Amino acid sequence: MKLMILSFVLKVMIVIVLLSRSSNTAAQSLPNCPDKCGNVTIPYPFGTTEDCYLSRSYYVNCTSLQIYNTSFQLSSVSLDGYMRGSLPMGYRCYNKKHAKTRWLEPEIMLSRFPVSSTHNLFTTVGCDARSSMKYINSENYITGCLSMTGCTGLTDGSCLGMGCSQVPVPYKVTSFRIHAQDNTKRYVGKWSYNKCVYAFVVEKHHYWFRETDLDTMVNRSFPVVLEWSLGSTSCVEAQKKNPETYLCKENSVCDDHTYTVDFIQSYHHQGYRCHCAQGYQGNPYLPNGCQGKIIIIVINL
Ligand SMILES: *[C@@H]1O[C@H](CO)[C@@H](O)[C@H](O)[C@H]1NC(C)=O
Ligand SMILES: *[C@@H]1O[C@H](CO)[C@@H](O)[C@H](O)[C@H]1NC(C)=O
Ligand SMILES: *[C@@H]1O[C@H](CO)[C@@H](O)[C@H](O)[C@H]1NC(C)=O
Ligand SMILES: *[C@@H]1O[C@H](CO)[C@@H](O)[C@H](O)[C@H]1NC(C)=O
Repeated sequence: MKLMILSFVLKVMIVIVLLSRSSNTAAQSLPNCPDKCGNVTIPYPFGTTEDCYLSRSYYVNCTSLQIYNTSFQLSSVSLDGYMRGSLPMGYRCYNKKHAKTRWLEPEIMLSRFPVSSTHNLFTTVGCDARSSMKYINSENYITGCLSMTGCTGLTDGSCLGMGCSQVPVPYKVTSFRIHAQDNTKRYVGKWSYNKCVYAFVVEKHHYWFRETDLDTMVNRSFPVVLEWSLGSTSCVEAQKKNPETYLCKENSVCDDHTYTVDFIQSYHHQGYRCHCAQGYQGNPYLPNGCQGKIIIIVINL
């Protein structure tokens, strides 16, 4: 009889519930600060009013959704150090006599938020097209795209050099201009369906070429992924030199983040990012922002 009771007790499931505060309700912004622009969540260190952002670089204008002093229009920020939004495109259109009719060569400045080289592609659309990312105030190239001479082999859904081509963004660059033009002067403008050359940065797998795009793309916008980080030193330096301003709070871990301001001059910029330690979730940049996840351990003996 005793043995049976013991066995029954052992068969009872032991349920242990560790910390129980759900991070869904956890704040994303500092106390008394709005954490949204419309339906876009703005987590600290970003903010929409003074005293709500870490520094001016992280100010988001809720009217324009523009990040302070940049050409970037925000659509989402994620706490893993990325944000999505859009950038202006470059284009150049011609008439039948091969005169330029309209064009834009945008200068893109992203303050301290580089274009992610792993998440985006530099893309050009047009037959006989040539485009490049160049440094602002210099003719030095960062990268470029060339599409086939003539307008044969166009295939909707593919971007393999016929009417459309793509190349990687070679490193994490923060300022550049986008130049688009025809290549041989023989084809763009000649046919009514191929009057312009377009060039833009777009998140991988977010642009599919359509033949009808050749004449209809001016000022369309595409998702672009930027990276974000904090400070101007590595994690170790940030923590050692100035613990008061070190931003990875309780239960979080720090990662170094580097990006390039000018590759030719080998000018790299150092910063850091924080993420919640294993078993925690929330905003690691806020005091007590990283909260324990609900962990249920079921032991069935
Ligand atoms: C809110 O989000 C939806 C879907 O993501 C989008 O279609 C809509 O335009 C957004 N509204 C505003 C006001 O930003
Ligand atoms: C925010 O953007 C709007 C619209 O572009 C502009 O009129 C306003 O001056 C901007 N506000 C600030 C504080 O920059
Ligand atoms: C705004 O951007 C321009 C161009 O990148 C830069 O020269 C200027 O210092 C920036 N201003 C601030 C306050 O960051
Ligand atoms: C495209 O956008 C730029 C910058 O806002 C503007 O100057 C230009 O007129 C626009 N072009 C067209 C055809 O809408």
